Amino acid sequence: MEKWIDEAFARACEKFARGARKAAEQGIIPYMADGGHYVGAPFDGNSWWTGGFWPGMMWQLYAATGEEGFREEARRVEELLTREFRTFDLLNHDVGFMYLLSTGAHYRLTGDAQARTDTLHAATLLAGRFNPVGFIRAWPGEDRTGYAIIDCMMNLCLLHWASEQTKDPRFEAIAKIHADATMRAFLRGDGSRCHIVIFGSKTGKPLERPGGQGYAPGSSWSRGQAWALYGFTLSAINTGEARYLDTARRCAKYFMANIREDGLTDCDFCQPKDEERIDNIAGACAACGLLELANLVGGQEGETYREAAMRLLRALNDLCADWSEGSLGILQKCTASYHNDGAGRHVNILYGDYFFVEALCKLRGTDARLWMARA
Ligand code: GLY
Repeated sequence: MEKWIDEAFARACEKFARGARKAAEQGIIPYMADGGHYVGAPFDGNSWWTGGFWPGMMWQLYAATGEEGFREEARRVEELLTREFRTFDLLNHDVGFMYLLSTGAHYRLTGDAQARTDTLHAATLLAGRFNPVGFIRAWPGEDRTGYAIIDCMMNLCLLHWASEQTKDPRFEAIAKIHADATMRAFLRGDGSRCHIVIFGSKTGKPLERPGGQGYAPGSSWSRGQAWALYGFTLSAINTGEARYLDTARRCAKYFMANIREDGLTDCDFCQPKDEERIDNIAGACAACGLLELANLVGGQEGETYREAAMRLLRALNDLCADWSEGSLGILQKCTASYHNDGAGRHVNILYGDYFFVEALCKLRGTDARLWMARA
């Protein structure tokens, strides 16, 4: 194993041991680090879709080190997240991100019965968003009954996990119908995909493909491509179905062809060439997907995915990791959305750190496999 991997992991442990104490003192769910303190979610308080990444990172570090401080901090945040079940209105299809990495991780690593129940509760909420005309609805709001987004490919893992736990195939059936709809309606011939599809909520027919968090309608938002790459890889792992593996390969090929010369990732692969807008969350998430895809296919093809993942991770470590004493986040140059600098442009955003740490854990053989239906 390359030396920098162990060094980066040791530094991440040190940074987030300090971070866990600071976050508890602040009493928030960290969304981003701003120097020596954390900042909470920009919208919707503890219902904001990113709330699971911080406890997920704590559980990954706990799985790797056994340090109680990480577990305690994950449990503190779990209390805040499970209270959000009662708000309901603000929860959306991202309950997969929120609860698979918090209560789901808690159950996976300790066998806690309440954590299992809470995770099944979240899976039932996600299944409840299924429209039987053929897709999972993304967001609430009367004007958005037909909206589905590529990010949901990651949330499907919660449904696969729930079917495995309960032996009830309904959850998995919903996940497959949605993944198949995504293959038909989101993917383009070149392996790229759009961010949003608006389906007819009574017909299931794709009606519109508006612009989302990328540069423009018809462009290629890199984090969406990473969600597709990792999401279809996880669908292939969780179901064993060849069509998801083929789709993951196509998404990977497109992503790899568009990595910048320096190994970082543009916010949108179709953004103007003179625009310096990077999103390192996309690179970190894609690296996790590529490492899993490499394991799945093996051989020379697997080596190609692994090499691409290593190129992304080395660039993140060498060019954009902040290892300074006082700071509380790792990856810099994370960008929430192409046109909304208010949510963060070229800053630390902690779900980028989550995927960076998950990738380090995969390379060091301690990944807690939080997205997998089976242990
Ligand atoms: N799931 C929304 C995003 O990736 O920003």
